[in-house]
Formats: sequence, C-alpha cells, structure tokens
Amino acid sequence: MFFRQRAAQNATLSYFFGCTGVGKSVAVDVVAGDEDWFIAEAARVGVPIDIVIDTHVHADHYSGGPELARRVGAPYCVHESNRGRLAFDFAPLSDGQRLDAGNVIVDVVHTPGHTPDSVCLLVRDLRRGDEPWFVITGDTLFVGAVGRPDLAGREREMAAQLHDTLHRKLLTLPAELEIYPGHQAGSVCGAGLSGKPASTIGFEKRFNPMLSMSREAFVDALTADIPPQPAEMASIVEANLHGFAPPGARA
Ligand SMILES: [Fe+2]
Repeated sequence: MFFRQRAAQNATLSYFFGCTGVGKSVAVDVVAGDEDWFIAEAARVGVPIDIVIDTHVHADHYSGGPELARRVGAPYCVHESNRGRLAFDFAPLSDGQRLDAGNVIVDVVHTPGHTPDSVCLLVRDLRRGDEPWFVITGDTLFVGAVGRPDLAGREREMAAQLHDTLHRKLLTLPAELEIYPGHQAGSVCGAGLSGKPASTIGFEKRFNPMLSMSREAFVDALTADIPPQPAEMASIVEANLHGFAPPGARA
C-alpha cells in the first residue's frame, strides 16, 4: 500500500492512501485548496482517486472533499446521519460498512461524541496481514488529547457520548494499532495535542490523560473551559453542508 499524511493549514491532518497493485485510493479530510495536491499525488503514485471521505462535517475548516470528489468523479462520503442535512448528493457511510480499495480494506466505525456524525476508519492492508494496521481517528481521538464536543448547548451530553465511544469502540482495539488523528498541536479543536502526528492505541491508553478518567470526571474536564466558538464557525459549517468553499478558502 501507499500512505501519505498531509499537514494542512491550521494544524489539520489529511490522509491519502490506497493500493498501488490494484490501483485504488482513498482521500480523507481534504482541506479546501488542497485538491490539486491530492490530484498530483495520485498521478505520481499512478492511481485514480476512488473514494473521498470526511470523518465528519467540519466546523473548523472548509472541506475540499466535495470539490475533489467532483473533479475526479469519485463519491463523496460522510456518515449517513447527514441525510437531509447536506444540500447535495453524497454517499452515506454506515457503522460496520466495508470499503474496498484493492488490497486495502477500510471499515467504517461510527464514533459519535465530537459530533453526532463522526466516523473513524479502521484500515487493513491484506498484503501485510488480515488484521487492522491503523485507525484514522478524525477529531475523536488525538495524540495526547481527545476531541471537544462541537455542539453548543449539548456539550455535557456529547462529552458523555464521546467517553462511551472511546472506551467501547477505540480502546478495545489491539494495543499495537496505529492511530492517525485529524489534528496535531496548534489546532483549536482540542487542548494538549502533541506535535507528533501519530501514536498507537496502547501508548494513548497508558499516557493520554483523558483516557484514564471516570465518565463523570471526563465530562467535567472536557466541558470545564470550552473556548468560545470561532467567529467563522457557522459560515464554515454552512459552506460544508452545501459542498462549496468560498473562493478565498482556496488561496
Ligand atoms: Fe472537527
């Protein structure tokens, strides 16, 4: 398989990976303005871009996913709970769904908490083994931190849901599984993120301070000092729900 992690603007991390043998690929959490990079990288590797995924409808940056999907003729995928919410056609993802990119297999795990529509992507490379090798965690689990509930007014409920998601769906995965998050240090999407853009389930279980708390302590900690929502948040979400970033976002 090939695998690229792209450090995009505002400490966002995007992913591009796939199977060179069969010639299939997946683009994840593309930031608006980065579409050309994905197209150039696909050409360099010699694969088409077959699947474009956002781990959730982003509130902190304009997504380039819909634009990239249109340009390469690939489906744009987000969780099925966005039915009736998105103003354009998309391919709905459901919990347990398996996406096939040649020898690279992607299993969708619905992981609500940061947002109701968040998903993580469990990836295996059949050329290496039949077990998952890494998980793309979006804004659910960061290196050294966890995502913040995005929904104003429902923070405690969402934080509790995030605790359940982390303990039932991610921390039950094998310790050696690598994690690749949606942000690194410098992002406003969480506090205490490491500048190292990858970790493992086992290391985070031992050393991520948010993962050893009781549910109640976790909810208290996560909702204690929620920073004010970024000024642009409402317009970013609106643009992402319509699938078009403003021209300025593509600078
Ligand atoms: Fe997010």
